[in-house]
Amino acid sequence: MSGRIPKSFIDELIARTDIVEVIGSRVPLKKAGREWKACCPFHGEKTPSFTVSQQKQFYHCFGCGLHGTALTFLMEHDHLPFPEAVEDLAGRLGLEVPREGGSTEGPERHLDDLYALMASADQHFRDALRDSDRAKDYLKMRGLVGETAARYHLGYAPAGWEAILKKFGSTDAGKQALLTTGLVIERNADAQRNQGPGYYDRFRDRIMFPIRDARGRVVGFGGRVLDQGEPKYLNSPETPLFHKGRELYGLYEARQELRQIDRLLVVEGYMDVVRLAQAGIHYAVATLGTATTPEHLNRLFRVTGDVVFAFDGDRAGRQAAWRALETCLPFAKDGKRIQFLFLPDGHDPDSLVASEGREAFEARVASATPLSEYLVQHLMVDIDLSSVDGRARLAEIGRPLLQKVPDGVYRELLIDRLAREVRMSGPRLANLLGLGGGPATPVIDMTRRPRPITGRGSLLSQALAYVLQYPSAAAAVKDPESLRLGGERGLEVLAEIIEMLHESPKLSTAQLVERWRDRPEHGRLTALASQVLPDLPSEAAQREFISAVERLAREAGPERRVDELIQKASDSGLSDDEKQELRELQARMRPAAKPPR
Ligand code: CTP
Ligand code: MN
Repeated sequence: MSGRIPKSFIDELIARTDIVEVIGSRVPLKKAGREWKACCPFHGEKTPSFTVSQQKQFYHCFGCGLHGTALTFLMEHDHLPFPEAVEDLAGRLGLEVPREGGSTEGPERHLDDLYALMASADQHFRDALRDSDRAKDYLKMRGLVGETAARYHLGYAPAGWEAILKKFGSTDAGKQALLTTGLVIERNADAQRNQGPGYYDRFRDRIMFPIRDARGRVVGFGGRVLDQGEPKYLNSPETPLFHKGRELYGLYEARQELRQIDRLLVVEGYMDVVRLAQAGIHYAVATLGTATTPEHLNRLFRVTGDVVFAFDGDRAGRQAAWRALETCLPFAKDGKRIQFLFLPDGHDPDSLVASEGREAFEARVASATPLSEYLVQHLMVDIDLSSVDGRARLAEIGRPLLQKVPDGVYRELLIDRLAREVRMSGPRLANLLGLGGGPATPVIDMTRRPRPITGRGSLLSQALAYVLQYPSAAAAVKDPESLRLGGERGLEVLAEIIEMLHESPKLSTAQLVERWRDRPEHGRLTALASQVLPDLPSEAAQREFISAVERLAREAGPERRVDELIQKASDSGLSDDEKQELRELQARMRPAAKPPR
């Protein structure tokens, strides 16, 4: 299939990505000195020991020990395989991931071309809607007027297998772009054997809902069948333009309509958003057939501090609501209002607003259940609080939930609210939940000096940790080659890192570590990159590093080789090359014999 991702691209990606932004979109980070902190997303904890360094472009948890670069984070946190983590970062930056030789991706397409194609497809579907009585009748039947259809760019993908393909896929590059944007699907291999390579339209005989990004560019489509049929909705696949877990349908249109967005209502469906807007409720947005993600929440809360989630009253709706609540907890802070609206069974916002009108619907929104209330009710449902067991159970179920809520007034109110319910004092309940005042785990002093170095292994580790964390120190090592003389693997790694930095002095910690991803040393280097070193000015760090390198080069590297050669000389004699090597080694060791002061 496609070739390898070039290392230079990974370098560029890490250089242009900000790890604080990547992690910050998933974990609520707080500034703490030069670093950022949060409760670790990889293990439950009450006091933040997860730190992110902007300078190193590295994260590290002092609690569970996990650490790495932005790519590692995406792999661990979002459970992405490496190439997809790369795609994700590249997508944020609007970069296309290049592949080394053997690529089947065809001629590379610029994102601009892809956006242009999506805009043309949008126009194509809108034109087709104008020409189709069947499609217009369907929208009428759903209660939508022309003005609404126009505002949301509703369209129609005609029946037939090759409408889009014929219109935009006359060249190979055109076909490739259609494939990349997900507008066509490649026939499977079996079909190709009979008919030769080929493609067919993804969306056929469907009402089309273009999904627009914050800037109004069409990045994907949702298509609904007109009659019965499966699947009812079909969405664009993940593409360089479209990431389902990120987009909110209707947000662009809401922004166009409202000068200021005070509140957002999160609903489940396209039709809900469109029908609500037609009723005059312009602040509804929909997730696209996925659960609400932290990325969605970040986007929502960037727009407003007041978010209401609407769910169907049925079982599935309640389940979805609880999942949304859990995702919301890390975002529940002072100044935020998060509420849940449960609709009557059998209704969705579309049907409800159609039957009872705007005012009644907005009255429901206004009396939605606050997150705290919902959380408490949910916890109370199957717990008998009059019993000791019940209280223990409450602690057990409530603890992991409340621990996700950031420390602060909001959490205190939540605990007080729960305490009233169980007729306990707030502090006592907090204690029971393991959320008592003051840090429960010792705070780690980031500036403490590491234990004095003893032994050779730790000297090497120390040197590696310094060069990874203070890459500028490498410039002062004039002759990394000498580290290789002993033939010791660890020193070769050190030499290679120094050489990398001589070639590209601006490499960050994260870039250096990423360069080792496919090699056996990657794990160890990742660990060393986040080992606690004294927080030194760069000249001081450079001095520490140089003295470690000099000791390494002096004490063990050449010496070991010299011993070996001398041994060999007396055993079996040396070749001319070996004699030359020995002379050079001895010459090299002599000036270093006096430790520099
Ligand atoms: N959805 C999807 N794929 C499906 C079904 C649903 O992606 N096969 C997503 C769509 O975004 C849809 C939302 O889930 O809008 C809600 O689905 P559903 O409640 O089934 O549809 P409605 O929005 O009520 O659609 P309609 O009123 O048109 O039947
Ligand atoms: Mn519906």
